[in-house]
Amino acid sequence: MTAPRKILVTSALPYANGAIHLGHLVEYIQTDIWVRFQKMRGHNCHYVCADDTHGTPIMLRAEKEGITPEQLIARVHGEHSRDFAGFHIAFDNYYSTHSDETRTHAEDIYAKLQTAGLIETRAIEQFYDPVKEMFLPDRFIKGECPKCGAKDQYGDNCEVCGAAYAPAELKNPYSAVSGAKPEMRNSEHYFFKLSDPRCQAFLREWTRGGQLQAEAANKMQEWLGADGENKLSDWDISRDAPYFGFRIPGADNKFFYVWLDAPVGYMGSFQNLANRVGLNFDEYWQDGSETELYHFIGKDILYFHALFWPAMLKFSGHRTPTNVFAHGFLTVDGAKMSKSRGTFITAESYLTTGLNPEWLRYYFAAKLNGSMEDIDLSLDDFIARVNSDLIGKYINIASRCAGFLTKGFGGKIAFDADADLVAMARAGSDTIAECYEQRDYGRALREIMAIADRANGVIASVAPWTIAKQDPTSPALQAICSEALEVFRLLTLYLKPVLPKLAEQVESFLGIPAQGWAEVPVHLTKGHLINNYSHLMQRIDPKQVEALVAANRDSLAATPAVEPKKEKKVEAKPEQVAATSNDNAFISIDDFMKIDLRIAKIANAEHVEGADKLIRLQLDLGALGTRQVFAGIKSAYDPALLIGRLTVMVANLAPRKMKFGMSEGMVLAASDTEGNTSGLYILSPDSGATPGMKVK
Ligand code: 2FM
Ligand code: ZN
Repeated sequence: MTAPRKILVTSALPYANGAIHLGHLVEYIQTDIWVRFQKMRGHNCHYVCADDTHGTPIMLRAEKEGITPEQLIARVHGEHSRDFAGFHIAFDNYYSTHSDETRTHAEDIYAKLQTAGLIETRAIEQFYDPVKEMFLPDRFIKGECPKCGAKDQYGDNCEVCGAAYAPAELKNPYSAVSGAKPEMRNSEHYFFKLSDPRCQAFLREWTRGGQLQAEAANKMQEWLGADGENKLSDWDISRDAPYFGFRIPGADNKFFYVWLDAPVGYMGSFQNLANRVGLNFDEYWQDGSETELYHFIGKDILYFHALFWPAMLKFSGHRTPTNVFAHGFLTVDGAKMSKSRGTFITAESYLTTGLNPEWLRYYFAAKLNGSMEDIDLSLDDFIARVNSDLIGKYINIASRCAGFLTKGFGGKIAFDADADLVAMARAGSDTIAECYEQRDYGRALREIMAIADRANGVIASVAPWTIAKQDPTSPALQAICSEALEVFRLLTLYLKPVLPKLAEQVESFLGIPAQGWAEVPVHLTKGHLINNYSHLMQRIDPKQVEALVAANRDSLAATPAVEPKKEKKVEAKPEQVAATSNDNAFISIDDFMKIDLRIAKIANAEHVEGADKLIRLQLDLGALGTRQVFAGIKSAYDPALLIGRLTVMVANLAPRKMKFGMSEGMVLAASDTEGNTSGLYILSPDSGATPGMKVK
């Protein structure tokens, strides 16, 4: 028996100014699964995290809400803790970077880097907002894209043409905070000298340790360049007041940049835990530590965790991470999460809509393989996979066997513990454990479901329901049902890192203590009594998923600045036109200007199978691309005659998922006020109009 490992695990610290959404949960769920697995293996594993509380956006957000940053971060800490608990993320400590522990360690690291000669000051030129009297981070400067001229683009890249540039290149820049024209001003900044040969040499060696994921090692190689090259630039770690953060000791009104103290928050949270439960902080953080340290992160912050952070630790006399596990981004139905489509799904909405958090834990686990690839949450596949695997395969084993045992045998177990079926299920344990260890949860679940498939096959061939009809007290019936429940116990144990709450319910149904990996061979014994079976998990009803998407779309529609509230229908329904014209309420020109009307060329038009009112249109909007729109005009138009025509569409209507696909806008049509759909007339512009032209 080898000694238990001492492992410290972290997930990236979420910013304290936004809600937890499903994208975040990809990370917390995968870390939680790994930590639960390590604990089930008997290791001393500690999982810490915290809110990332500093920086300009948090300062400005609090100001906008009329509260102090401290009030904002206290509120968000409550919301985040609630959401994580809702998804069964079992941190050993969930703390805050705005803490004495984090400040003390940040100051200590900084002082040691200074002593090592790795801190330098330099004057830099930066945009300054003369009204707000503050230097502006790139994301708070807007202006016209230097490449395509698009207005209101951010200081680092253009959302219209995708160009990347420096803020100084923007045309007609303005401060997104006050609207003022920013000025270039000089200020002294503090830098961590990453270009120092010692840092370069250390990072090369650390990168080549063989522990990093292949994609991460390649990225590092790219950032470091070939041997002899020095591609790393020094890192600007200071910000000028006003700033919400920690003051830099000995500097005049300067603060640590949020990314300097964020990873130190891992230490701060662990320090707080160590003080509370009596762990030895130094054993986990001092140079030469024999404990293990792992950071789970998104691939977008690899640079901070694989370059800055190990170098900060190394040159301040600390241990370096054993490994950094980076994962990809989440897409929903194959696309980036989108507020207008309702696929930017918050953790809170998922829970309040009544969806079971373990469904999502299972689905994410099934998609994860320990690589940096993006993962897709396909909503239809989510429903199909959970229903077929969890309910159809796994739960099915207990639901069809338990009743015969309770009815015919008072719930008493009796079977041969070496029966083939049980031996087969037990034999999977090492492979499954190795898959979890390697974070290849997808493969772990495939192995587990393969056992469930084989068990269901054996149960079906023995057919306990047939035996029960002939003799409900037959020993053969008791044996097959007992074997099935022993397999069910093993499957539950294997699934426990992913489905911890369900596992607890099963443990109580089977009348057994909490199961860890050591319990794999500890089978249900002869004469053991199980409790009455009550249903363990519901199937997903597709309506619940529809409601979830609608809830996230609706919450956006309630924010008028982002989307006009009443424009929810996709088809050009006559009553909508009537509602506006008969309403007698005037709207302002600003209201009207919110509607983005465009000339569209009907590139294709076709009937939609199964829909009696709709025509599927492919609309060409010139530089704005093409859109698919389902229009309720079938009663009035032959699709073939529409192709090639120009018409007018609402281009900024929130896309809507319909039974037949996405509808990404609305075509305007005139009709009589009674909504008589036989008289429908789509609009045509005069000749000369071209696709994409604005109508106003
Ligand atoms: O990218 C982010 O959301 C950061 N708040 C992550 C910080 S992770 C760590 F370094 F603190
Ligand atoms: Zn551009």
